[in-house]
Amino acid sequence: MSSLLQPLLVPDRLMLGPGPSNVPPRILAAGGRQLIGHIHEEMFQIMDEIKVGIQYAFQTQNALTLAISGTGHCAMEAALLNTVEPGDAVLVAVNGIWGERAVDVSQRLGADIHQLVKPAGEYFTLKEIEEGLAQHMPSLLFITHGESSTGVVQPLDGLGDLCHRFNCLLLVDAVASLGGTPILMDQQGEQDSKTFNLYY
Ligand SMILES: Cc1ncc(COP(=O)(O)O)c(C=O)c1O
Repeated sequence: MSSLLQPLLVPDRLMLGPGPSNVPPRILAAGGRQLIGHIHEEMFQIMDEIKVGIQYAFQTQNALTLAISGTGHCAMEAALLNTVEPGDAVLVAVNGIWGERAVDVSQRLGADIHQLVKPAGEYFTLKEIEEGLAQHMPSLLFITHGESSTGVVQPLDGLGDLCHRFNCLLLVDAVASLGGTPILMDQQGEQDSKTFNLYY
């Protein structure tokens, strides 16, 4: 209990791993600002500015671009929960732990799961994905852009068009790659209300 009466001591550490990482002072300072309420007028402006920033980061004009405060798992769960109904066929590209995690989450949602499995360290070719889509006819394809368990970057070019040809939603996990390698979301195929791309 006496430790609760002491000031919190957090040392400065230089962190050079994949995460956690050091936070730039400008962002630390922003986090130290006073709170405002979620219905204050200024909050709407701040949220709009955040939306423009996310649209830039993902290179998209998609109007349904929003910030959800939470972890990468929170984004993963939000994305799958809002796109998968019990019994839906879902194809998950598994070449590391993030594909495996998407299988776990989809399983709990009652999806009819099919896995496209490659050894850790490899990525999927368009042809392999096309064969998987043709075989399973899923309503959603999950794929990890930056598989942080191995360091593999999954090429995304052509994937949106391919999925849409099979009437399938494309869900991309970019938690570990956003900001590290270009993500050109709007170049990944024409989208309409039934066949859209979802990135987090
Ligand atoms: C590719 C990928 N997806 C999802 C996550 C989960 O993110 P979080 O640890 O913030 O829940 C991570 C975390 O390392 C990740 O690398």
